Amino acid sequence: MLKRIDLTRDFAKHRQEYLDAITRCCEETAFSGGPYADRFDKEFAQYLGVAAASGVNNGTSALHLAMLCLGIGEGDEVIVPANTYIATAWGVTYSGATPVFVDCTADTWEIDPAKIEEKITDRTKAIIGVHLYGQPFDFGAVKEIADRHGLYVVEDCAQAAAAEYEGVRVGGLGDIGCFSFYPGKNLYSFGEGGSVTSNDPAYIDKVNVYKNQGCRIRYYHEVVGYNMRLEGIQGAVMSVSLKYLDEWTKRRIEIGTRYDREITNPLFRLQKHPANTKHVYHMYEVQVPDPEHFLAYMKEKDIECNRHYPVPCHLQEAYKDLGYQKGDCPNAEELAAHCATLPLFPEMTDEEVSMVIDAVNSYRG
Ligand SMILES: Cc1ncc(COP(=O)(O)O)c(C=O)c1O
Repeated sequence: MLKRIDLTRDFAKHRQEYLDAITRCCEETAFSGGPYADRFDKEFAQYLGVAAASGVNNGTSALHLAMLCLGIGEGDEVIVPANTYIATAWGVTYSGATPVFVDCTADTWEIDPAKIEEKITDRTKAIIGVHLYGQPFDFGAVKEIADRHGLYVVEDCAQAAAAEYEGVRVGGLGDIGCFSFYPGKNLYSFGEGGSVTSNDPAYIDKVNVYKNQGCRIRYYHEVVGYNMRLEGIQGAVMSVSLKYLDEWTKRRIEIGTRYDREITNPLFRLQKHPANTKHVYHMYEVQVPDPEHFLAYMKEKDIECNRHYPVPCHLQEAYKDLGYQKGDCPNAEELAAHCATLPLFPEMTDEEVSMVIDAVNSYRG
């Protein structure tokens, strides 16, 4: 069976390098934060071209911390796309603020700037744009609206390490960038991890305090803090993986652009990629009339597919108290009803890519 993502191949290829990095960290017992986590922060900031980065325990915490650093809390509203992984909205909810869901466009499947303004109230404090599937959202249009209304822009970069908008790496576009290093992300840890990035070192300074139980000096707590530090072992692993990110991204783009060109079956709708972005193909999402039928068909062909995401955020049970109805975000609902995810990871062989394309093109519904 060809898996949707197979991380065993990367581990087999770089096994000794990963194990050596972990061993060094163990020998120094630098387990929680510490020199390996700090080194990764510096390397990641340098890679992105941002002033500073702060490693945290996962991408959900990164989003939560972004809200805290911007002073967002109870009584505030934050614009969030309806079609994203639910954690984008969790960060807002944990801060005490309310997520306000906005539809995506029908073709790029990214937040629709034309629908943001009607959702802005005098309580709105920020817009979180998500570079979904590795495809940068229309940052220019979102930023223009944010500036006109005096709002912050936070980038959810969980799926988009190494992606670019007009030549700038994501994570350095808005006020704050939030990354996840969950296994299977374009840049991933061997467990859980995340990072908060910014061109304003003052925000990163705040993250460093919040994530460390509110301390700058041990046992002196300036604010009510959290235990959200990046583990040392994850920092050590990520310093290895960061070296391979450009190679992995190149291969993801090769595979993704083959899918773009060679999937010609009219039953499938593909995502549109704006020319001013570098899309890094974290996931290859398609729309198909009956996705569950398609997944079963692919399984018969020994190809594992899955779906991202079958229920849009505004219709999730957890947010039923916010009062959204079916029809509030029609493009996101259409996407949720028809989405299916094809296998895509850097170690896929050309033959496997051809096998997926042939299976998709032979599908008759
Ligand atoms: C778009 C998006 N935002 C946030 C997250 C949350 O990251 P984590 O799982 O590391 O908490 C994810 C990860 O799955 C994601 O895909």
